Amino acid sequence: MTPDERKAFKGQWLDQARRQDASHSERPGRQDAHPDLTDFSTLEGYRQISMMRSLASGAGVASPFFRCHDARAGAISQLQGRDVINFASYDYLGLAGDSRVIAATRHAIERYGTSVSASRIVAGERPFHQKLESALAQHYQSDDALVFVSGHATNVSTIAMLVGPRDLIVHDSLIHNSVLVGAKLSGATRMSFPHNDPDALDQLLRRHRQRFERVLVVIEGLYGMDGDTPDLTRFIAVKRHHQCWLMVDEAHSLGVLGATGKGLYQHCDVPAAEVDIWMGTLSKALASSGGYIAGCQPLIDTLRYLAPGFLYSVGLAPQLGAPAIRALELLEQEPWRVIALQHNAQRLLAGCRALGLETGHCQGHAIIPVILGDSAKATQLSHRLLEAGINVQPILYPAVPERSARLRFFVSSEHTHEQIDVTLQTLGGLMATSS
Ligand SMILES: Cc1ncc(COP(=O)(O)O)c(C=O)c1O
Repeated sequence: MTPDERKAFKGQWLDQARRQDASHSERPGRQDAHPDLTDFSTLEGYRQISMMRSLASGAGVASPFFRCHDARAGAISQLQGRDVINFASYDYLGLAGDSRVIAATRHAIERYGTSVSASRIVAGERPFHQKLESALAQHYQSDDALVFVSGHATNVSTIAMLVGPRDLIVHDSLIHNSVLVGAKLSGATRMSFPHNDPDALDQLLRRHRQRFERVLVVIEGLYGMDGDTPDLTRFIAVKRHHQCWLMVDEAHSLGVLGATGKGLYQHCDVPAAEVDIWMGTLSKALASSGGYIAGCQPLIDTLRYLAPGFLYSVGLAPQLGAPAIRALELLEQEPWRVIALQHNAQRLLAGCRALGLETGHCQGHAIIPVILGDSAKATQLSHRLLEAGINVQPILYPAVPERSARLRFFVSSEHTHEQIDVTLQTLGGLMATSS
């Protein structure tokens, strides 16, 4: 694409996106006297998807979304029959393809079948449920833990269960969607504080704490878009002072942060028991799918008997429980994986900075954003990188503000230094020719 074409592409993109924003307050039903309200193609979201598709195809760029991998998407994957260096998977410790993890999974399926076929309260437990929950409880030095079939549903169900209309939820401004959905469902008042700013949280609580009964503060261990971490010690001090619960979402920090990958508490050298609710997913470092909560017995008992996403949903399947158990064991036994991941991420971050690329507040822990401030440019760069054999996803407006549109690299312990250096060289070359 020539610079002029790119400019036109960007202009169209933004026009369409702004029109889309405006249409949120002017739903078709209110504007058009005779809309066909049964026609799914009139949905606002569908219009936006169609716009993105037509702009991408008009610009000769394939959609960067839903790329189909023909093989396991580790540090290397295969797209359209071609090997690519892959930075689009969360398999941070490379365990999703580990032969011991696969063997444990196979064994669990052979013994228990492929589904537990109902909610655990009805269909009963399997030993791997209890084994995984006690391993997670041990990891967080907590009384107990509970596993759900989805990480997203873990946040939604837990938050909606714990707080209600007389309560307040305060979260970091960059918190994950699952926390926002849970907050909405709970009926509690929701407020946010500026990213990673415990002083702003303190001020907010000074102003508003007394109006509410319970207050739940939610932060992430490692932020999934920006790759930075909170100062846990300071958040604990604030939550103690204002008598709140503190919930930490460790989706991206378990297996990544701390000398042996124990997560945010190890990274910040804080006893795990200082946090009221540890939440995490099985889908990243633990090579599976699902989510968990770890904490004190009354918390876990309440969720076990009352959280809708646990009680009214099927129990974790054998092929999800077994790999997570084995991955947790391997995390303990093979700390070199965590060290390799940390070196790789630091190498990629240092290389991006040396190229003069904008990486925001990224601290070099597995997630490296390259902020371009231009959705069209991010889409094109992702496309050109794929042509050069490197798979990295663009993050575009409206998922982030246009000025924050970016490429996001997920690094793994399996990436080689050579793969990282080739990526940097290619990225540098493409950036030089596109500016
Ligand atoms: C911070 C955070 N929490 C929760 C989730 C949901 O987890 P899952 O994808 O395992 O459902 C994600 C997903 O990426 C996440 O980034």
